[in-house]
Amino acid sequence: MARITASVFTSHVPAIGAALDLGKTQDPYWQPLFKGYDFSKQWLKDEKPDVIFLVYNDHATAFSLEMIPTFAIGCAAEFKPADEGWGPRPVPVVQGHPELAAHIAQSVIQDDFDLTIVNKMDVDHGLTVPLSLMCGQPPQSDFHWPCSVIPFAVNVVQYPVPSGQRCFNLGKAIRKAIESYDQPLKVQIWGTGGMSHQLQGARAGLINREWDNAWLDKLIADPAAAAATPHIDYVREAGSEGIELVMWLIARGAMADVNGGPAPKLKHRFYHVPASNTAVGHVILENS
Ligand code: DHB
Ligand code: FE
Repeated sequence: MARITASVFTSHVPAIGAALDLGKTQDPYWQPLFKGYDFSKQWLKDEKPDVIFLVYNDHATAFSLEMIPTFAIGCAAEFKPADEGWGPRPVPVVQGHPELAAHIAQSVIQDDFDLTIVNKMDVDHGLTVPLSLMCGQPPQSDFHWPCSVIPFAVNVVQYPVPSGQRCFNLGKAIRKAIESYDQPLKVQIWGTGGMSHQLQGARAGLINREWDNAWLDKLIADPAAAAATPHIDYVREAGSEGIELVMWLIARGAMADVNGGPAPKLKHRFYHVPASNTAVGHVILENS
């Protein structure tokens, strides 16, 4: 049977991808941020997952106002890095896992969650930046990500967006789906986006360290309370783009403890401001 071994939570910011691609990771501005991922890169190398189920949001790149799926599962064999205006990032094409993705779609849709099946999609910074942070820049001689990735896109751009509670419940259904797959795969689930940031309007530049860290405490130790956070709190306290945090609850809902199992081990926690306009949060939890 497939198993969910760990969850990873991390913010994304396009400028992080640019810093990596342009060789600026040791610049004084970026060095403290990338240092926060040194542990994580080694941990991921040691863990060697077979598949990463990567929850992220598309930023009007693959989707647009013409078509807005609330939840979209990538079932293709591969996903190309998207051109977000400066050409595609020089990162590997993402190799999917069509068989496991199709199994998850079947199980989760039958569990009453409406997923959009996506068989062709380019992936933007929402997906490639978390991979870059966790894997570093793959060498030209061995140019691929370390394992298969199933992209799972959530609409947090155009209202109405799903509630944290619905995301948390969806995570539980995804766990059930993965753990009923009859191949012995090690699967990680990643929740990405957030933390506090607002990119536009009168409050552009908003950061809320205190709220972010209190929310991280809840995510780790009292996830049901984090899931109960109402929408308005994210927007008021963490800024309009702080709503990306609901995606972390999908990953948290897939962990053992909220499905009748033991508490996870906290392997790593990191928080850093600033990264562009965003407060970067990062947590790794391992199922025992
Ligand atoms: C920034 C953050 C985001 O989450 C995003 O999608 C785009 C830009 C930023 O801080 O610059
Ligand atoms: Fe974003």
